[in-house]
Amino acid sequence: MAITIKSEREIELMRESCRLLSIVHKEMEEAIRPGMSTMDIDILGDSLIRKLGCIPNFKNYNGYPASICVSINDEVVHGIPNKRRILQEGDIVSLDAGLIYKGYHSDAARTHGVGQISDAARKLIDVTRQSFFEGIKMAKAGNHLHDISNAIDAFIKPYGYGIVTDLVGHGIGTNLHEDPQIPNFAQRKRGPKLRPGMTLAIEPMINMGRADVEWLSDDWTVVTEDGSWSAHYENTVLITDGEPEILTLY
Ligand code: CO
Repeated sequence: MAITIKSEREIELMRESCRLLSIVHKEMEEAIRPGMSTMDIDILGDSLIRKLGCIPNFKNYNGYPASICVSINDEVVHGIPNKRRILQEGDIVSLDAGLIYKGYHSDAARTHGVGQISDAARKLIDVTRQSFFEGIKMAKAGNHLHDISNAIDAFIKPYGYGIVTDLVGHGIGTNLHEDPQIPNFAQRKRGPKLRPGMTLAIEPMINMGRADVEWLSDDWTVVTEDGSWSAHYENTVLITDGEPEILTLY
Protein backbone atom coordinates (compact mmCIF):
# COMPACT_ATOMS: atom_id res chain seq x y z
CA MET A 1 0.00 0.00 0.00
CA ALA A 2 1.30 3.45 -0.87
CA ILE A 3 1.65 6.21 1.71
CA THR A 4 -1.53 8.30 1.57
CA ILE A 5 -1.41 12.08 1.16
CA LYS A 6 -4.35 13.73 2.90
CA SER A 7 -6.32 16.50 1.21
CA GLU A 8 -7.04 19.79 3.02
CA ARG A 9 -10.50 18.43 3.93
CA GLU A 10 -9.02 15.22 5.30
CA ILE A 11 -6.39 17.17 7.25
CA GLU A 12 -9.17 19.11 8.97
CA LEU A 13 -10.84 15.83 9.97
CA MET A 14 -7.51 14.44 11.22
CA ARG A 15 -6.97 17.61 13.25
CA GLU A 16 -10.35 17.27 14.91
CA SER A 17 -9.94 13.53 15.55
CA CYS A 18 -6.58 14.20 17.19
CA ARG A 19 -7.81 17.20 19.17
CA LEU A 20 -10.58 15.09 20.67
CA LEU A 21 -8.08 12.36 21.53
CA SER A 22 -5.88 14.90 23.32
CA ILE A 23 -8.85 15.68 25.60
CA VAL A 24 -9.29 11.98 26.37
CA HIS A 25 -5.62 11.70 27.31
CA LYS A 26 -5.77 14.80 29.49
CA GLU A 27 -8.76 13.47 31.43
CA MET A 28 -7.23 10.02 31.87
CA GLU A 29 -4.00 11.58 33.14
CA GLU A 30 -5.90 13.61 35.73
CA ALA A 31 -7.76 10.51 36.93
CA ILE A 32 -4.67 8.40 37.64
CA ARG A 33 -4.16 7.53 41.29
CA PRO A 34 -2.91 4.62 43.37
CA GLY A 35 -5.67 2.09 44.05
CA MET A 36 -7.46 2.32 40.73
CA SER A 37 -7.53 -0.69 38.42
CA THR A 38 -6.35 -0.75 34.82
CA MET A 39 -9.97 -1.59 33.97
CA ASP A 40 -11.10 1.67 35.64
CA ILE A 41 -8.87 3.55 33.18
CA ASP A 42 -10.33 1.66 30.23
CA ILE A 43 -13.90 2.36 31.38
CA LEU A 44 -13.09 6.08 31.76
CA GLY A 45 -11.30 6.36 28.39
CA ASP A 46 -13.99 4.40 26.55
CA SER A 47 -16.80 6.52 27.98
CA LEU A 48 -14.97 9.79 27.19
CA ILE A 49 -14.39 8.73 23.59
CA ARG A 50 -18.07 7.85 23.15
CA LYS A 51 -19.25 11.02 24.93
CA LEU A 52 -17.25 13.01 22.35
CA GLY A 53 -19.25 11.21 19.63
CA CYS A 54 -16.33 9.05 18.51
CA ILE A 55 -15.53 5.34 18.26
CA PRO A 56 -12.63 3.66 20.10
CA ASN A 57 -10.50 2.27 17.26
CA PHE A 58 -8.54 -0.23 19.36
CA LYS A 59 -11.67 -2.09 20.51
CA ASN A 60 -11.87 -5.39 18.61
CA TYR A 61 -8.89 -4.43 16.44
CA ASN A 62 -7.44 -7.86 15.60
CA GLY A 63 -9.47 -9.06 18.58
CA TYR A 64 -8.05 -6.59 21.12
CA PRO A 65 -10.69 -6.69 23.89
CA ALA A 66 -10.59 -3.10 25.24
CA SER A 67 -10.49 0.56 24.17
CA ILE A 68 -7.30 1.64 25.96
CA CYS A 69 -3.98 -0.19 26.31
CA VAL A 70 -2.75 0.09 29.91
CA SER A 71 0.81 -1.13 30.48
CA ILE A 72 2.52 -1.01 33.89
CA ASN A 73 6.28 -0.93 34.63
CA ASP A 74 7.96 -3.76 32.66
CA GLU A 75 4.95 -3.97 30.34
CA VAL A 76 5.94 -2.13 27.16
CA VAL A 77 2.63 -1.82 25.30
CA HIS A 78 -0.77 -3.48 24.72
CA GLY A 79 -1.49 -4.29 28.37
CA ILE A 80 -5.08 -5.56 28.60
CA PRO A 81 -7.19 -3.75 31.23
CA ASN A 82 -8.14 -5.96 34.17
CA LYS A 83 -10.22 -5.14 37.23
CA ARG A 84 -7.82 -6.98 39.53
CA ARG A 85 -4.72 -5.14 38.27
CA ILE A 86 -4.26 -2.20 40.65
CA LEU A 87 -1.99 0.85 40.19
CA GLN A 88 0.45 1.23 43.09
CA GLU A 89 2.30 4.31 44.27
CA GLY A 90 5.65 4.43 42.46
CA ASP A 91 4.48 2.54 39.34
CA ILE A 92 4.73 3.97 35.87
CA VAL A 93 1.75 3.41 33.58
CA SER A 94 1.63 3.76 29.82
CA LEU A 95 -1.74 4.70 28.34
CA ASP A 96 -2.21 4.17 24.62
CA ALA A 97 -5.49 5.37 23.11
CA GLY A 98 -7.06 6.08 19.76
CA LEU A 99 -10.40 7.04 18.27
CA ILE A 100 -12.28 7.46 15.01
CA TYR A 101 -13.94 10.79 14.18
CA LYS A 102 -15.96 10.89 10.94
CA GLY A 103 -13.89 8.01 9.58
CA TYR A 104 -10.50 9.43 10.57
CA HIS A 105 -8.23 7.76 13.11
CA SER A 106 -6.02 9.29 15.78
CA ASP A 107 -3.49 7.51 17.99
CA ALA A 108 -1.39 8.72 20.93
CA ALA A 109 0.35 7.33 24.00
CA ARG A 110 1.77 8.74 27.23
CA THR A 111 3.58 7.24 30.22
CA HIS A 112 2.66 8.69 33.62
CA GLY A 113 3.96 8.21 37.13
CA VAL A 114 1.56 6.93 39.80
CA GLY A 115 2.03 9.19 42.82
CA GLN A 116 5.70 9.67 43.69
CA ILE A 117 8.09 7.78 41.40
CA SER A 118 11.84 7.21 41.51
CA ASP A 119 14.27 9.60 39.81
CA ALA A 120 15.30 6.78 37.48
CA ALA A 121 11.68 6.21 36.38
CA ARG A 122 11.13 9.97 35.90
CA LYS A 123 14.24 10.16 33.74
CA LEU A 124 13.10 7.22 31.58
CA ILE A 125 9.73 8.90 30.97
CA ASP A 126 11.30 12.30 30.20
CA VAL A 127 13.99 10.92 27.88
CA THR A 128 11.42 8.82 25.99
CA ARG A 129 9.24 11.90 25.47
CA GLN A 130 12.26 13.98 24.44
CA SER A 131 13.30 11.34 21.88
CA PHE A 132 10.00 11.91 20.08
CA PHE A 133 10.71 15.65 19.87
CA GLU A 134 14.25 15.00 18.63
CA GLY A 135 12.81 12.69 15.98
CA ILE A 136 10.27 15.14 14.66
CA LYS A 137 12.87 17.85 14.23
CA MET A 138 13.61 15.81 11.09
CA ALA A 139 9.92 15.46 10.13
CA LYS A 140 10.01 17.97 7.30
CA ALA A 141 8.98 17.69 3.67
CA GLY A 142 12.06 16.83 1.61
CA ASN A 143 13.72 14.86 4.41
CA HIS A 144 13.38 11.08 4.43
CA LEU A 145 11.41 8.95 6.86
CA HIS A 146 14.43 7.26 8.40
CA ASP A 147 15.99 10.61 9.25
CA ILE A 148 13.37 10.54 12.05
CA SER A 149 14.36 7.00 13.09
CA ASN A 150 18.05 7.86 13.09
CA ALA A 151 17.51 11.01 15.18
CA ILE A 152 15.58 9.07 17.85
CA ASP A 153 18.30 6.40 17.97
CA ALA A 154 21.12 8.95 18.19
CA PHE A 155 19.37 10.77 21.04
CA ILE A 156 18.67 7.61 23.08
CA LYS A 157 22.04 5.90 22.60
CA PRO A 158 24.04 7.92 25.21
CA TYR A 159 21.52 6.99 27.94
CA GLY A 160 22.20 3.28 27.44
CA TYR A 161 18.49 2.52 27.23
CA GLY A 162 17.10 -0.24 24.98
CA ILE A 163 15.09 0.92 21.98
CA VAL A 164 12.34 -1.58 21.19
CA THR A 165 12.77 -2.84 17.63
CA ASP A 166 9.93 -5.39 17.48
CA LEU A 167 7.29 -2.66 17.34
CA VAL A 168 7.27 0.49 15.21
CA GLY A 169 5.23 3.60 14.43
CA HIS A 170 3.01 3.86 11.39
CA GLY A 171 1.08 5.99 8.94
CA ILE A 172 -2.51 6.75 10.00
CA GLY A 173 -5.67 8.11 8.36
CA THR A 174 -8.81 6.24 7.35
CA ASN A 175 -7.04 3.22 8.86
CA LEU A 176 -5.31 2.95 12.25
CA HIS A 177 -2.26 1.41 10.62
CA GLU A 178 -1.18 2.61 7.19
CA ASP A 179 2.15 2.63 5.43
CA PRO A 180 4.88 3.47 6.17
CA GLN A 181 6.26 1.60 9.16
CA ILE A 182 8.32 3.99 11.28
CA PRO A 183 11.21 2.39 13.19
CA ASN A 184 12.60 4.13 16.27
CA PHE A 185 16.13 2.84 15.67
CA ALA A 186 18.88 3.55 13.15
CA GLN A 187 18.30 2.50 9.55
CA ARG A 188 20.87 2.08 6.80
CA LYS A 189 18.55 3.30 4.04
CA ARG A 190 16.91 6.73 4.17
CA GLY A 191 13.43 5.39 3.41
CA PRO A 192 10.61 7.19 1.58
CA LYS A 193 10.70 10.94 1.12
CA LEU A 194 8.41 12.92 3.44
CA ARG A 195 5.70 14.94 1.72
CA PRO A 196 3.17 17.51 2.97
CA GLY A 197 -0.14 15.84 3.83
CA MET A 198 1.35 12.66 5.26
CA THR A 199 0.02 11.83 8.73
CA LEU A 200 2.30 9.66 10.88
CA ALA A 201 2.03 8.08 14.33
CA ILE A 202 5.55 8.30 15.73
CA GLU A 203 5.94 6.26 18.91
CA PRO A 204 9.26 5.49 20.60
CA MET A 205 9.11 2.63 23.13
CA ILE A 206 12.19 2.75 25.36
CA ASN A 207 13.38 0.24 27.98
CA MET A 208 15.57 1.10 30.96
CA GLY A 209 17.49 -2.13 30.28
CA ARG A 210 17.87 -4.23 27.18
CA ALA A 211 15.78 -3.81 24.03
CA ASP A 212 14.47 -7.39 23.93
CA VAL A 213 10.77 -7.96 24.49
CA GLU A 214 8.47 -10.95 24.70
CA TRP A 215 4.72 -11.56 24.52
CA LEU A 216 2.68 -12.87 27.44
CA SER A 217 0.38 -15.85 26.88
CA ASP A 218 -2.58 -13.48 26.35
CA ASP A 219 -0.86 -12.81 22.98
CA TRP A 220 -1.12 -9.04 23.51
CA THR A 221 0.88 -7.82 26.49
CA VAL A 222 4.44 -7.01 25.44
CA VAL A 223 6.95 -7.09 28.34
CA THR A 224 10.69 -6.54 28.57
CA GLU A 225 12.66 -9.77 28.66
CA ASP A 226 14.96 -8.53 31.43
CA GLY A 227 12.12 -7.13 33.58
CA SER A 228 13.34 -3.54 33.22
CA TRP A 229 10.74 -0.79 33.08
CA SER A 230 9.60 0.71 29.80
CA ALA A 231 8.08 4.01 28.62
CA HIS A 232 6.09 4.97 25.52
CA TYR A 233 5.37 8.34 23.94
CA GLU A 234 3.31 8.72 20.77
CA ASN A 235 1.66 11.48 18.80
CA THR A 236 -0.06 11.67 15.45
CA VAL A 237 1.89 14.19 13.37
CA LEU A 238 1.15 16.05 10.12
CA ILE A 239 3.96 16.69 7.64
CA THR A 240 3.69 20.21 6.19
CA ASP A 241 5.78 22.51 3.99
CA GLY A 242 7.41 23.82 7.18
CA GLU A 243 7.43 22.58 10.76
CA PRO A 244 5.47 19.39 11.50
CA GLU A 245 2.13 19.81 13.26
CA ILE A 246 1.73 17.63 16.34
CA LEU A 247 -1.98 16.93 16.13
CA THR A 248 -2.54 15.06 19.41
CA LEU A 249 -0.97 17.59 21.81
CA TYR A 250 -3.50 19.02 24.28
CO1 CO B 1 0.34 3.68 17.19
